[in-house]
Amino acid sequence: MNFRRIFLVKSLLLLFPSVKCSVTNWFYVAVNESAHLSIAAAGSVYDATWMKDRKRLLQIKDRKVKYYVNKEQCRCKIFLNGTLQIEQAVKEDSGNYTVTVYEQDGKRKAEEHIVFIVQGPVPQPVLSDKCINKTVFVKCEVKQKTKDETFIIELTQDKSKKIQKNATSLELHTRHSGTFRCVVKNQVSEKMVEKVIKCSGQLDLYLILSTAGGAVVFVIVMILLIYC
Ligand SMILES: *[C@@H]1O[C@H](CO)[C@@H](O)[C@H](O)[C@H]1NC(C)=O
Ligand SMILES: *[C@@H]1O[C@H](CO)[C@@H](O)[C@H](O)[C@H]1NC(C)=O
Ligand SMILES: *[C@@H]1O[C@H](CO)[C@@H](O)[C@H](O)[C@H]1NC(C)=O
Ligand SMILES: *[C@@H]1O[C@H](CO)[C@@H](O)[C@H](O)[C@H]1NC(C)=O
Ligand SMILES: *[C@@H]1O[C@H](CO)[C@@H](O)[C@H](O)[C@H]1NC(C)=O
Repeated sequence: MNFRRIFLVKSLLLLFPSVKCSVTNWFYVAVNESAHLSIAAAGSVYDATWMKDRKRLLQIKDRKVKYYVNKEQCRCKIFLNGTLQIEQAVKEDSGNYTVTVYEQDGKRKAEEHIVFIVQGPVPQPVLSDKCINKTVFVKCEVKQKTKDETFIIELTQDKSKKIQKNATSLELHTRHSGTFRCVVKNQVSEKMVEKVIKCSGQLDLYLILSTAGGAVVFVIVMILLIYC
């Protein structure tokens, strides 16, 4: 087993010898957090240059730091080990970061790519329902703040039926009443809404009221979690 796996890795390395020094990593951070983008290649760093979308940001060489951009504007720093720090990230910091590391003799040691994505907290999803001919049409919607914002939406009925999609709205049709839950998430946050939906027969006012109460409590808890 183990032997075969080692063999497989070795063959892959033989097939793609460049894989070792040109990996693309994804790094997600929430707005206003600070991020450390570090160099994966082992060993000491003599000369490292960080670029964002092919534009040079800064360089550390022989322990001296040189900025190619405005230091306050980029809110960036470099440590002796080559790690790039970005403080109080804003969405515009998202991009392709590349670091190139050189040895003392000028030989290139490594080049690494990081797709850095700064995400805001997801908006509160809205769960709506329509009752047509004893069939419930449940819809969960999230309002995008920007066009390229994406979420994972998950719609569940009574913990059994579950659909999931990378989108901004999701619909479910069913002939059964029940508790519906919609969860919206991205890489840095998550919000939820839950509702008891009954289609056939009279509406149960008590259930609706208690669900609404539960939702309000949940929203308050989420707000406290996010802002405290
Ligand atoms: C961002 O974080 C700093 C502290 O790290 C805090 O003082 C500031 O209020 C935060 N800003 C927002 C918009 O959350
Ligand atoms: C690099 O140095 C910084 C500050 O000294 C430290 O926080 C970070 O963990 C280091 N990263 C690595 C990969 O060694
Ligand atoms: C960043 O890299 C990804 C994949 O490597 C590519 O799809 C994307 O277009 C790049 N974005 C920019 C702004 O260069
Ligand atoms: C409801 O069902 C009836 C008969 O089954 C049909 O005539 C009617 O068009 C349906 N209404 C809707 C809104 O689908
Ligand atoms: C969701 O879709 C968008 C484009 O439609 C894509 O850029 C993004 O990577 C997808 N996200 C996930 C987690 O699949």
